[in-house]
Amino acid sequence: MTHSTPEPTARGTVLVTGGAGFIGCAISPALVENFDRVIVVDSLHPQIHASGQRPAELADGAELVKADITSPDTWDEVLSDITPDVVIHLAAETGTGQSLEESTRHAQANVVGTTQMLDGLNRHGKLPRRIVLSSSRAVYGEGAWTDIDGKSFYPGQRTSETLDEQQWDFPGSTPEPMKASRTFPAPVSVYGATKLAQENIIQAWAKSYGVQTVILRLQNVYGPGQSLINPYTGIMSLFCRIAMGGKSIPLYEDGEVRRDFVLIDDVASAIVAGALSPTVQAQPMDIGSGEFQTIGTAARIIAQHYGAPEPHVTGQYRQGDVRHAWADVEDARKTLDWVPQYNLEAGIERLASWIDAQPDVKPY
Ligand SMILES: NC(=O)c1ccc[n+]([C@@H]2O[C@H](COP(=O)([O-])OP(=O)(O)OC[C@H]3O[C@@H](n4cnc5c(N)ncnc54)[C@H](O)[C@@H]3O)[C@@H](O)[C@H]2O)c1
Repeated sequence: MTHSTPEPTARGTVLVTGGAGFIGCAISPALVENFDRVIVVDSLHPQIHASGQRPAELADGAELVKADITSPDTWDEVLSDITPDVVIHLAAETGTGQSLEESTRHAQANVVGTTQMLDGLNRHGKLPRRIVLSSSRAVYGEGAWTDIDGKSFYPGQRTSETLDEQQWDFPGSTPEPMKASRTFPAPVSVYGATKLAQENIIQAWAKSYGVQTVILRLQNVYGPGQSLINPYTGIMSLFCRIAMGGKSIPLYEDGEVRRDFVLIDDVASAIVAGALSPTVQAQPMDIGSGEFQTIGTAARIIAQHYGAPEPHVTGQYRQGDVRHAWADVEDARKTLDWVPQYNLEAGIERLASWIDAQPDVKPY
């Protein structure tokens, strides 16, 4: 169901949690252009922000409050001063693999951080017009596959036993693109489960108070500005740093894992459209390039860029990783009037040029 408001939602105040991160910095110039005030609440998490200082990529006009979203005091301080018209909720712990070993940490930031924010908005009687959530394709887990008779089914989570036997796929079946209106969520990582919890909590809360929601399930975002020190996210940056050192990129499983790599510029335009669009829909929308590539293909393009040796298959795997993922982006196209612009080659070129220009970057 789509819902139209008569006037575009620009101007006023936008509050961005986690707004000093990769995606937050990328959307900040457009937010400064379209809103009167841009308030960023970010703890400058040491796993992402080596210096603990305001990132240079954050637009000058954005006001940064260094604070933890899980603390009620943060919300009392921030909301005593401002009334947000739109909230863009980006702050999260994002390590898929890491979330298995540090599930409480992920639940605390992603789930409790969300509920503390909502309680704060309520406590101060400052309900925004709209909340935009950056959710994740991780909510789908392995997603839906088509069996040999052409019927859709949910294969569930791959087990250690099948993975140890290097049985990567679901035999005789083919994967389907992920689409919120068609694919049921079934996360296979704690991170994915916390992102689904965020969606459910925000939707339940917002419906009760008549607040609009825009929930965007992002595929694998990459590009200039992604943390180069966080070992738990950003496979493309990691591949670049390996290739830069003249090494062969190791490929997990058989190198045929499919991902929808979407350039940060396309994700930024989708989130900004989510904040400004006169039209929204209650159902989550999928954001990606709309096409899949294998990890091996991405690694080969990067290796060629750096003149590194051919990537090699290791046969290793990582718990919580799904076999294939890519998005059907039709709903976002229609509802947000948004179209992804970049293909993988152009995106890798932009990422590599940015990495090469960084003063402190070290080969991996
Ligand atoms: N980058 C991707 O590929 C991708 C894919 C799907 C979904 N997402 C989602 O998009 C959002 C932003 O991701 P990103 O790639 O910019 O990540 P990021 O790690 O670069 O940014 C997250 C920001 O949140 C801040 N933060 C973390 N915990 C906090 C806390 N308790 N209080 C205040 N600030 C806190 C960090 O300091 C960081 O600046 C996340 O919600 C993530 O789940 C990202």
